[in-house]
Amino acid sequence: MSYPYAYPAPAAPAPSPSDSSSPSSASDSNPNSSVPVINAIPLLEPERLARNHAILCTVGFLILLPLGIVFARYLRTFTNKWWAGHAVIQLVISVPVISAGWHYGWRVAQMAGLGHFIDPHTKMGLALLILYAIQLVWGLVIHFFKIGAATTRPVQNYFHVFLGLVIMILAQEQVHYGLYIEWPFATGNIHPVPQSAKNAWIALVVIFWVLYLAGFALLPRQFAQEKRVREERKLNGEKL
Ligand code: HEM
Ligand code: HEM
Repeated sequence: MSYPYAYPAPAAPAPSPSDSSSPSSASDSNPNSSVPVINAIPLLEPERLARNHAILCTVGFLILLPLGIVFARYLRTFTNKWWAGHAVIQLVISVPVISAGWHYGWRVAQMAGLGHFIDPHTKMGLALLILYAIQLVWGLVIHFFKIGAATTRPVQNYFHVFLGLVIMILAQEQVHYGLYIEWPFATGNIHPVPQSAKNAWIALVVIFWVLYLAGFALLPRQFAQEKRVREERKLNGEKL
């Protein structure tokens, strides 16, 4: 059975990224290359599942969910339709990706045979999935049920924003832990995580926070618009 070899492993034992003298991949065409045999080993089944898990969970939590958040931050003062886009990204697109990621992680743990949710990564993974589910339900609740005759921004809306950002911070830490600790621990580090994956982590974290915080520049405009809407509703005798 042949497995895709998507984690090009540096020569084992794992060299430091700055060690330019070590061969960089099994596809090194130099016939005299001293690439150890281990480099030519394709990913084993648990590694393949763990890699799929890592990619899907990272795409879900560090690309799609941040995209939905930044989408809301920037577009909400320009169109009323922002909410639909936010919900489609966070719910319709992200749920299948994150569920598939969880499925693969579950199967790795299953193969290890030590039980589920037994170490910091798997426990935090479960917590994140629960928080994500709560956040989805909460988002729908604050959109469809306007609770209380609020004359100011409802506290439940602030809670959704707060929980969304907490999920982001935990997910960023979770992926970091996965790359630096869980992968070597659970797979035996036969094929170490490539430096490019670690660089991608930093890039995704920095890009999200820079974009999101820069979007705070739109807050005065947003609050002014929301105030205007509340005043209009009050004048018309509508529920606030
Ligand atoms: C936000 C992103 C992530 C979440 C929510 C997450 C969550 C999980 C969950 C729920 C499990 C299975 C728990 C169980 O059934 O016991 C798991 C297992 C695992 N995850 Fe992640 N994970 C994430 C990212 C990563 C990354 C980036 C890596 C590696 C690069 C990784 C490596 C692993 C490994 C190797 C296992 C198997 C652990 C074992 O069997 O002991 N995860 N993860
Ligand atoms: C069905 C899914 C979802 C719905 C219906 C929904 C709905 C909403 C609504 C109504 C707001 C406006 C809140 C306000 O008044 O400020 C909002 C903003 C926000 N949502 Fe969601 N949401 C969903 C999923 C998520 C998820 C999964 C996350 C993150 C994990 C998230 C993170 C955020 C954040 C951070 C904001 C604030 C954006 C800003 O700064 O303006 N949402 N969402």
